[in-house]
Parts: sequence; C-alpha cells; structure tokens
Amino acid sequence: MKAIVQREYGSTEVLQLEQIDVPAIGAGDVLIRVRAASINQADWFLTTGTPLIARAAFGVRRPKLPVRGQDVAGIIESVSPDVSSFRAGDRVYAEVPAGSFAEFVAARAGDVAMMPRTISFEQASTVPLAAGTALQGLREVGCLDARTGGCGARVLINGASGGVGSFAIQIANALGAEVTAVCSARNAEQAFALGAARVIDYAVEDFTRAGDKHDLILDLVGNHPVRALRRALARTGTLVLASGGGGRILGPMGRIIGALVSAPFVSQQVRVLSATPSAARLDALTELIDSGAVSPQVERVYPLEQTAQALRDFVEQHARGKLVIAVSP
Ligand SMILES: NC(=O)c1ccc[n+]([C@@H]2O[C@H](COP(=O)([O-])OP(=O)(O)OC[C@H]3O[C@@H](n4cnc5c(N)ncnc54)[C@H](OP(=O)(O)O)[C@@H]3O)[C@@H](O)[C@H]2O)c1
Repeated sequence: MKAIVQREYGSTEVLQLEQIDVPAIGAGDVLIRVRAASINQADWFLTTGTPLIARAAFGVRRPKLPVRGQDVAGIIESVSPDVSSFRAGDRVYAEVPAGSFAEFVAARAGDVAMMPRTISFEQASTVPLAAGTALQGLREVGCLDARTGGCGARVLINGASGGVGSFAIQIANALGAEVTAVCSARNAEQAFALGAARVIDYAVEDFTRAGDKHDLILDLVGNHPVRALRRALARTGTLVLASGGGGRILGPMGRIIGALVSAPFVSQQVRVLSATPSAARLDALTELIDSGAVSPQVERVYPLEQTAQALRDFVEQHARGKLVIAVSP
C-alpha cells in the first residue's frame, strides 16, 4: 500500500511516499481502508521529534511508529475474530497513535466509532483529534455542561479559528455558553458564523488586559503567562491549558508545572488538558454533528502525495479550520 513514511526526525522533507505492507491486525483490532485523514499539530511534533522530552515516548533516535497521521475516516476492511462491534463495510472514524496517512490503518476497535451520517469522509477526518480535544477541554476538564451551566457560561477561547478552536466555539455554544473568540481579523467572520458572540483580534487587543471576566478560558495558544490569563478569569473561574508554547527541550512542560504548583494557592481552577482518544466522546460528537449543532470546517484538501506540503502549510500559514488529506476515492 502507499503510505507517508518517516525514517528520521527532521522537517517535512523526511516525509516520503513509500510502498509498504498493509498493517497486520491483532486481537481487538480493526483494519480501516482510509478515505481521508487530517493534519494536526501532533503530526508536526512527531515529524520533528520536538519537544525533545517527547522522544522518550516517540522514539529516541527515530520514530518508533514510522507512518504519520492520527486522524482517520474510512471504511472497515476487516476485523479481528474477537471484534463484534464492527463489520466490513462500516463507515467509521477514529484517532489512532499513528499510520493514517496511508491506504490502510489498524486501530483498536475500542477507539473507533461509526462516523456521522450527514458529512463526508473528508469532513469526518477532521473530527477525532481536534473536536475530541475541544469537547474534552470544555466539558470534561472545563466542566461546562448545557444542563447545569457547568462552571459558568462566559467562555473565552484563545486560538479560536484553527482546528481545535473552530470546533470549540461550536461545542461551547451547543453546551449553552456565551463565547468570546480570540483570533486574527482575517478569521473574525468565520468565528461569528460559528456562533461566537464576540470576537477579539489579538493584534489589536490583549484580552488579558481588557477587564472582562470569563468563567472558563480554553487556551489553545500559550502566548500569555498563566498569571495574565488568570487576570481575565472570574474569581471562581477555570483555566484550561491545552497548549503551553515553550521551548525546544521541554515544550509546554515548564509552564504547565509552574501553573500546577501555584494552583493550590489561588481560588481559580488551573487545569491541564492532555487529550486522549475516546469512542464515547466520538459518539457524543456524532450526535452534535448529525443534529446540526457542529459543522467541521475544512480549509483545503490535498492528495496523499502532497502530505508534506500540507504539513508545511499548516505550520507556516494559519489555517482556517482543518487541512485534509484525501487518501482514496
Ligand atoms: N493538550 C492537548 O492534548 C492538545 C490536543 C490537540 C491540540 N493541542 C494544541 O492546541 C493548539 C491548537 O491546535 P490547532 O490544531 O487548533 O492549531 P491551528 O489549527 O494551527 O490553530 C491555531 C490557532 O491559534 C491562533 N493564533 C495564532 N497566534 C495567536 C495569538 N497570538 N493569539 C490568539 N490566537 C492565535 C490562530 O488564529 P489565526 O489563524 O486567526 O491567526 C489559530 O486559530 C496547538 O498548540 C496544539 O498543540 C493540544
């Protein structure tokens, strides 16, 4: 099969199109014929092997899992004999540890869900990691809930026009929040269209100095110190850190450790989001999408052969929504 393979760490030139064997599936696995995959920040981290601390898990000298890609939408090709939840022909989506920039990918059946009925494979491939992160950050870590109001209804999303942010605006809205979106002026119109009540252009206004208080801040950028973010929080508000900025060695770890150390001494909640795959979360997202409350935003679609270019574009230009790799028709 065709796959985008990486034999060493480096910039996007290490991503090569190769012919390799179709992955074997083990107990509890399914094999998915990939129709579409999408680009995430995680693909850049794995390509470059940064922050360096992450190589302890990815592989010290070279990536342990050489085929890139974590988001997949496709069709079940085969299932392990012990799997009864799916059968060949099912239209599914999932977040996998690696391997979706390829014609076939193996996945744990427990991480796979039936994809929404109302959207294309290309749209579905944008959902697992980005929308999963947004839902986990807002509802589980940030305790926002439509029924109870969670920790409050005034939600600010810093980094609201990218992959995670464009889902976060819509999900927060669906959970009953009033959303302030922070992004560039170029993307303000999209943020309003997705349901933001207010949009702040970060080039013009620093929301941490505006004096407004928010019950929940989801930080997807990491460009403000935690103490500045806390200034924009209500007294009992919650700050969810999903991105820490940071350097080449420790990445966001320094900032996260600092935030956690100060957490017991402040009335506000400071929490760190470490996104994890979950089929139950995907089922919740399927419902939100099929009900029309959430709509995936695809900026551009590339063929598998242009995956390196897609990753370059993701890193160099600010995407509006998600970049997608169309793998097979
Ligand atoms: N913690 C976790 O488990 C987890 C999981 C997934 C993702 N993440 C992190 O979440 C972050 C966002 O991921 P993504 O896929 O959404 O990235 P993305 O698509 O590149 O989006 C980045 C967003 O940041 C905005 N931005 C850039 N500079 C900004 C600034 N100075 N102030 C405010 N917004 C700014 C961009 O807005 P404009 O384009 O309008 O400039 C865009 O909306 C990444 O850092 C990623 O590593 C964390």
